[in-house]
Amino acid sequence: MPDMKTIRVLANSRLNPDTLATLKETFDVTVFDRNIRDELSAEVRGGIQGVALFGAVDADAMDSLPDLEIISHFGVGYDGIDTAAALERGIMVTNTPDVLTEEVADTALGLLLNTVRELPRAEAYLRAGQWKAKGSYPLTQATLRGRRAGILGLGRIGMAIARRLEAFGLSVAYHNRRRRDDIGYDYYPSLVELAGAVDTLIIAAPGGAETDKAVNAEVLRALGPDGILVNIGRGTIVDEPALVEALESGTIRAAGLDVFANEPNVPEELLSLPNVVLTPHVASASRATRRAMGQLVVDNLKSWFETRKPLTPVAE
Ligand code: DGY
Repeated sequence: MPDMKTIRVLANSRLNPDTLATLKETFDVTVFDRNIRDELSAEVRGGIQGVALFGAVDADAMDSLPDLEIISHFGVGYDGIDTAAALERGIMVTNTPDVLTEEVADTALGLLLNTVRELPRAEAYLRAGQWKAKGSYPLTQATLRGRRAGILGLGRIGMAIARRLEAFGLSVAYHNRRRRDDIGYDYYPSLVELAGAVDTLIIAAPGGAETDKAVNAEVLRALGPDGILVNIGRGTIVDEPALVEALESGTIRAAGLDVFANEPNVPEELLSLPNVVLTPHVASASRATRRAMGQLVVDNLKSWFETRKPLTPVAE
């Protein structure tokens, strides 16, 4: 069994303090901010066997670390990691599934409820003294009751969202890369068909080339004027200019968004629209869940260096 304290691991400063502390207790850690190649000398990069990070690693970064064996990614979505390049170079990639599933699903429902019930706007109305000055908050146009939900991406998180939607009395349908034989929800082979059959579209799919701008103007048109879009997947899945257009013109009713294409930048137009609820990528951001994710980042590294079998390798 190797002495873990002799194993050199690069960790990025975006990891939360709990995770960084556990990594430092376990391994010989060097911290970097953004760019491995630019920030660290070749001497420092030599001998690095593991990378733990929340973010991106491209082929260039991999090539700058000649002894790299494993990238332990903090987060279930790993679209920033060039997994094909890792595979070619024999570098293992792991992520942090399961431990965040329920939290992210809760956030999806939170966004949906807040968007439909307009709770953030109603609260702002109260805080601004308008209840007293102008009377009751205007009646909302949408209700949750009777909605038909479509989920893009019925993986672990999508399933947890589906269970919650059913509990709220919504019907559930989905579009996935593949039809799932193990569940009875209605499957639509194309996203446009799904959007045409529902009025509430919830994105729980991974980012990357396959889903890039999948929710485009055509899909939004199909969703229709009572349509609500919720995104807890990746911002890149939505064509943001098309979404702004659809929200401005009433092509869809409203959106609840936790993720954006170019974080932390949020399109100015979205910031000034009344019919959106916006949160800063917080779906998994409770202390308990982020701790569990950080522990899994560390445990994947330990398991790799002890047994060559990481706990949660990404499935590619
Ligand atoms: C994930 O796990 O991919 C989340 O988006 C990170 O918060």
